[in-house]
Amino acid sequence: MVRDKGCGEILESEIGKDLSLCGWVFRRRDHGGLIFIDLRDRSGVLQIVFSPDVSGAAHEHAHDLRSEYVISVSGEIRKRPQGTENPAMATGMVEMYVKRLDVLNESAPLPFMVEDAADASEPLRLKHRYLDLRRPEMQQNIITRHRTTKLIRDYLDEKGFLEIETPMLTKSTPEGARDYLVPSRLNPGHFYALPQSPQIFKQILMVAGLEKYFQVVKCFRDEDLRADRQPEFTQVDMEMSFADTADVINIVEGMMQKLFREILGVDLALPFPTLGFHESMERFGNDKPDLRFGLELKEMADLAEKGTFKVFLDARKSGGRVKAINGKGMAGLSRKEIEMLTEEAISFGAKGLAWIKVKNGFESPIAKFFPEEILRQMAQRLEAEEGDLMLFVADSEKVVHDVLSRMRLEFGRKLNLIQPGYKFAWITGFPLLEWNDEEGRFEAMHHPFTSPADENIETLSSLNISDLQTPASDLSRIRAKAYDIVLNGYEIGGGSIRIHQRDVQKKMFEILRISEEEAQTKFGFLLDALEYGAPPHGGIALGLDRLVMIMVGASSIREVIAFPKTQKAYCLMSGSPSPVEQKQLRELSIKLNLPEV
Ligand code: AMO
Ligand code: AMP
Repeated sequence: MVRDKGCGEILESEIGKDLSLCGWVFRRRDHGGLIFIDLRDRSGVLQIVFSPDVSGAAHEHAHDLRSEYVISVSGEIRKRPQGTENPAMATGMVEMYVKRLDVLNESAPLPFMVEDAADASEPLRLKHRYLDLRRPEMQQNIITRHRTTKLIRDYLDEKGFLEIETPMLTKSTPEGARDYLVPSRLNPGHFYALPQSPQIFKQILMVAGLEKYFQVVKCFRDEDLRADRQPEFTQVDMEMSFADTADVINIVEGMMQKLFREILGVDLALPFPTLGFHESMERFGNDKPDLRFGLELKEMADLAEKGTFKVFLDARKSGGRVKAINGKGMAGLSRKEIEMLTEEAISFGAKGLAWIKVKNGFESPIAKFFPEEILRQMAQRLEAEEGDLMLFVADSEKVVHDVLSRMRLEFGRKLNLIQPGYKFAWITGFPLLEWNDEEGRFEAMHHPFTSPADENIETLSSLNISDLQTPASDLSRIRAKAYDIVLNGYEIGGGSIRIHQRDVQKKMFEILRISEEEAQTKFGFLLDALEYGAPPHGGIALGLDRLVMIMVGASSIREVIAFPKTQKAYCLMSGSPSPVEQKQLRELSIKLNLPEV
């Protein structure tokens, strides 16, 4: 055997034993006669000591060791002398006195020290990801991800789910992002699309009678990237037959309870609270509320209308909204600081930010537009007390919610209002359809296979669609059987009960102005399958990267993905995407038409 144990496994029970270990030179300290090295492998770190009294040869040789050399050592495990123990280290009570040292491999000078990699620039970390991943913290993230996936597989297996792979070279799916396309050499001019999700295939597996499916699966979406979005990411994708919303919710809640108990030792109380989409938008301004703190958005239109501030009145006249939040304890901000806040609101899309300080009465350039009593009512509604700052946005509903929800999150962070812990919620009652102003038509809010709520199915079938194609029409009131699960302000999953009746599906395409021909070209294989005894079914997909990110306390999913891409969807380590040979393009019948630079 090359080694007896892992470095991190050397505890007091090993004292007195002669052992062999392998690992990387992590930290190195030369104390005159003695050389101390922290030897690191995946299991942890152990201090090893080179003393001329134990082995002159090993001690001599140890002078040559540099950071990240790979070595093999054998020697005696001893209790550390009193006063030199390190309780911060799992192995801090012991050390190895080395009798024999072999250098298994040297390391070139490092672009950054592994120990300090967290402070290295992210591009450098990504370019040398193999060094970044050597960090104990990153290794822990990868291990937690592995354990999460394993627990999920075990859990779903116990519940009767089958893990079934679906194709990667496939057709465009209905999630609505841009596709990654793959040219087909054998079919010139034809392309596969990498799946944005296995949506259609999992529904077909239900028609195929497999009843309970899951897959831990890569999905691909060519969209603008952010801290919680990668072009390829992983879903825990599930689908169940003869199931309704409550069944899907139960399965996921049980899964979360098991994961949080076994990985974090946290007992989650079930069921998770459910919030209607409308309520979530009104109270938090978005559909993925962070419920770890308050500072909710408050309606101000009625009070605004009792004043004479033109900005507010104009917004109301044009059908807009006026809402506000409480900048808790922020009345002390200077004009300049408030100006900076305003700039920020403007960068989020607002036209301005109106403010009223609660400070020896009310202090504000707009206070003069309101009777004292109205100002008092505003403060009361916002639960604003002496020392608080009331902040108002007047605009279209979308802008008001967008801006105030972002300001709320920012204040939550800045003012340290966010309580530690995990706040899950289900968001339900989504509208089935969303008006697309640019295209002048309704779009599916989730995807076009999502079932309308039971009480809406009949309405839907009886509607004369062509009369209803305006943003304000009755169609916007139809609810979907869709649900999202949110955790600490992130959408960690979403799904729905699907349409399993061909006629309802047809109606849905009609509403979405997807012609029969287009539907047939795009999703014909699913529509065909729905003709042959499709069972009622539904499911959900969880964003594994986001879930693990939150569990390890990271702020970007890049921290829990071994080889992530940059904001520009670039892999700095492998250098992809990259140009290809002319010959390859010829084989694919592709001619490039690049814009001049
Ligand atoms: P949806 O599009 O909501 O649903 O995706 C499910 C979950 O996947 C995660 N997610 C992402 N994570 C990282 N990077 C991305 N670019 C990214 N996009 C999505 C989110 C999201 O909640 N087929 C449906 C599911 C269903 O109806 O069953 C679907 O894909 O956490
Ligand atoms: P003005 O009358 O444009 O000078 O604006 C007076 C105050 O109202 C300033 O503090 C602006 O930032 C603010 N303001 C302007 N437009 C809006 C808006 N749409 N919503 C909220 N506040 C606004």
